[in-house]
This record gives sequence, C-alpha cells and structure tokens, in this order.
Amino acid sequence: MTKTIAIVGGYGKISRRLVPLLRERGDAVVPLVRRAEQAAVLLDLGARPRFLDIERADVDAFAAAFDGVDAVVFAAGGGADGNVLRKRSVDLEGAIKSLAGCAAAGVRRYVQISAIGVDAKVGLDESAAWASYVVAKRDSDEAVRESGLDWTILRPATLLDTPGTDRVLLGSDLEPEGVTRDDVAATIAAVLDEPRAIGRQWDLVGGDASVLAALEAAI
Ligand SMILES: NC(=O)c1ccc[n+]([C@@H]2O[C@H](COP(=O)([O-])OP(=O)(O)OC[C@H]3O[C@@H](n4cnc5c(N)ncnc54)[C@H](OP(=O)(O)O)[C@@H]3O)[C@@H](O)[C@H]2O)c1
Repeated sequence: MTKTIAIVGGYGKISRRLVPLLRERGDAVVPLVRRAEQAAVLLDLGARPRFLDIERADVDAFAAAFDGVDAVVFAAGGGADGNVLRKRSVDLEGAIKSLAGCAAAGVRRYVQISAIGVDAKVGLDESAAWASYVVAKRDSDEAVRESGLDWTILRPATLLDTPGTDRVLLGSDLEPEGVTRDDVAATIAAVLDEPRAIGRQWDLVGGDASVLAALEAAI
C-alpha cells in the first residue's frame, strides 16, 4: 500500500535522494523546507513540500506539517558550521518537537537519522561543536526510543557523495566505514516498508550486502 511520508530536513542531501525513491514506488512525499526556491525544486521532483522552520516552529506547527501523513523521517541537521547552539535547536529540540508533533497529529511511524558512535563518551580533546552534536544525537535517540511511537533509528557512519553501491551493513557497534547518501536514502526507503524494523536501532555503514539483504540479516 502506498503511503504519505513527511521528511523533516526536506531539502537536505539525503532527503533529495530519498524523494525520488519514494515517488518511484508511488508514495506521496511531503518534504518540510524553509525557502520557496527549495520548495520549487522539490515540486519538480513530484513532492508536495510544506514550510516548516524547525527552530521557530512550535509543536502545533509540527503537528500541522504532519497532517495526513503516515510516517515521518527526521533527516535534519544543524550543519557542519561548528555552531554549538544549532546542534541543540535543530538536532535535539527539532527531533523532540517532531516526536510531539507526531503524537499530536496521530502519526505512528517515525524514522530517525542519527549518527554512529553517539553513545560513546566524548573525549576531552574533542571540539565543543562535536561534543554538542554527539550529545544532541544521543539525547534525541533516547527521546525517540521512549516516545511510544513505531520508531526506527538509523545511525550512519560518515556520509559520502559518491554514487550509491547498494552495499551496506546494518548492526550494532560496527566499524565506522563510510556510507553513501544514496545508500542511506535507499535504506530509509526499505525500512519504511518493513514493519519488522519497528523498535530497532542500527548502525549503518558501507558493507557487502544489498540494502534489502542487509536489512533482512539485521532483522
Ligand atoms: N555528515 C555526516 O557525515 C553524517 C554522518 C552521520 C549522520 N549524519 C546526519 O545525517 C542527517 C542528514 O544529513 P544530510 O547530509 O542530508 O544533511 P544536510 O544536507 O545538511 O541537510 C540538513 C537539512 O536540515 C535542514 N535544516 C537545518 N536547520 C533547519 C531549520 N531551522 N528549519 C528547517 N530546516 C532546517 C537544512 O535546511 P536548509 O537547507 O534550509 O539549511 C537541510 O535541508 C543529519 O541529521 C546529520 O546529522 C551526518
């Protein structure tokens, strides 16, 4: 059955790879963006963008953005600009408002894009931005696990812009082998279609198996 999928961080590099995959299989896609020119590009990809500024919006605005959707993918990020505060306002508070927005809008399915290794202690020599990012992802993942929603958490290693390989590995405590954004998008699409992925958290790294085979092996 086709679904309607909202993507928080709808103009992100992962999202722009995910939108065509979902459209190809007939899903409706609602990417959430904050600029008209981003919406125009996504309209051309067959999506139905809506506007949402993660940092300015309250829970009611998130719930309104999720109206009528079957699942939410959280693929936003405060960026690599070293801004400590945006790790909290986007990666952590954005995820927490997304979870509350899902509850308010009656959306059960939630897929969180986190990052590998965020449960490890942050070394004293790490930058403040990195420490803040790790804490934001760790705490938001905990909120996801406690949300009562039908969640899945994917924790990719370093994201690569090289073409997808359809060769990944899903599991726990994996070596942080880089993974392409194409393959992360394909894994999100597969997870959205797989009820047995509910309640599961996996590292996602480059590997040897196709996305579908890696998912089956992890389940
Ligand atoms: N980079 C890595 O190696 C790596 C590794 C593991 C996990 N991850 C995680 O993977 C996820 C997605 O990666 P990506 O490469 O697709 O990221 P990306 O291209 O940087 O996309 C992030 C998206 O978040 C949006 N965003 C930020 N602040 C916003 C706000 N206030 N309101 C609305 N939207 C806002 C951005 O919108 P604008 O375009 O408007 O700024 C952008 O579309 C992130 O959660 C990241 O932490 C990254």
